[in-house]
Parts: sequence; structure tokens; C-alpha cells
Amino acid sequence: MEIYEAIKQRRSIHDFKPQNVEESKLTSIFAGASWAPTHRMKEPWEVHIIQNKAVASYAERVTESYLRLGYAEGYDNDKQRKLMEGIKQHLLSIPHHAIIYMEKEKDLRLFEEDYAAVCAFIQNVQLLAWSHGVGGLWTTNPYIYDREFSRSCGIDPDLYKIVSVLQMGYPNRIPQPKRRTPIEQKVNFIND
Ligand SMILES: Cc1cc2nc3c(=O)[nH]c(=O)nc-3n(C[C@H](O)[C@H](O)[C@H](O)COP(=O)(O)O)c2cc1C
Repeated sequence: MEIYEAIKQRRSIHDFKPQNVEESKLTSIFAGASWAPTHRMKEPWEVHIIQNKAVASYAERVTESYLRLGYAEGYDNDKQRKLMEGIKQHLLSIPHHAIIYMEKEKDLRLFEEDYAAVCAFIQNVQLLAWSHGVGGLWTTNPYIYDREFSRSCGIDPDLYKIVSVLQMGYPNRIPQPKRRTPIEQKVNFIND
């Protein structure tokens, strides 16, 4: 796929087909993505791909996190249960949850370099996935900031930051593109 078309046609996918993406395809997508620019050749990205039977306990841990963070406060028990059950069912409908995390550098410049490299990696994953007919949703939901959730994923929050959970699978529905601002409003050529 031509690069401009790949960038322009990729969409964030919220609705996935139930079948898994072949593991060899996912491996090849993540391998290609690792050609992202990375200062100091740190290659800061680390990935846990939650899939198959692991999704059930993952969904459980996500809803526990929402409850811990107070997202269901003010609702009675029955409403809370329904809300959490809805979230669980939605998560169970997504074949792969790629938790993408990185070591936390103490120095802000190094931290930001690594964060930027991981973001470039994530977009590479999205574009390569798209070129294989695989969709993704870059998510930054509140649970990625929940230290207890991080620990429950085997990721020590003192040492690592979860950058995103990239939800992945074959798209069931591809949304319409959202318009972009004409770039002339964003880019200025400064000549003198
Ligand atoms: C850093 C980042 C975080 C995002 N977090 C979420 C998210 O938590 N939930 C979500 O539905 N979309 C999330 N998105 C996807 C954007 O909403 C999406 O890219 C935007 O609506 C444009 O749609 P498109 O990707 O189909 O062009 C995120 C995107 C980025 C870059």
C-alpha cells in the first residue's frame, strides 16, 4: 500500500470480528514496527499481548480498576454490576489487547525521548496492521494509570509506564474518516 494512502485510510477500529489475528502476522507487524526511530537505540517498547483465555481475567482486572478509581460511584449495586458487565463483554469481544509499556527514565529528556519513540512504534503497528487488513484502537483509558492494575499485569509501576493498550483484531465495521484541519492553518513557512 502506498504510504500516503496507508496513513490516510487507516481508521481507529471500535468493533472487531471475533476471530484472532494469526500469531505470525502479529509478530511480523510488531517486528516491522520496531524500525521506529529511537534515540540512543533504546528501543524502549515492551509489549504484552493479552489474548484467548487471558482476556477473561484481564477484563476482570480492568473492571476492578474502574471500581477502584471510582468510575461507578453514585450508582446503586445493580447499575454498577450492569455497567461493569457491559465493559467486560466489550473487552471480551476484542481478540487482542496489546499492553505497550516502557521503562521510566528519571531524567525528563530521556523519558520524553523514549515516550516519543514508543508512540512512533505504536503508529507503525497501526499502519502495518492496517496494510494486513488488521484494525487497532490506540487507547489510554484511566486504568493504565492505576498502579494496582499495572501490578496485576506484572508491570511494576515504579519502574515502568504503560503507554497504551492497543486493541487489535480484524475490523467488523470501519468508521467514516473524521475531517482534518487544512494543514495551511498549522504549518507556516518562516523565511525571514
Ligand atoms: C495518544 C492517543 C490516545 C488515544 N486514546 C483513545 C482512547 O482511549 N479511546 C478511543 O476510543 N480512542 C483513542 N484514541 C484514538 C483517537 O480517538 C482517534 O485516532 C481519533 O478519533 C481519529 O480517528 P482515526 O484514528 O480513525 O483517524 C487515541 C489516540 C491517540 C493518538
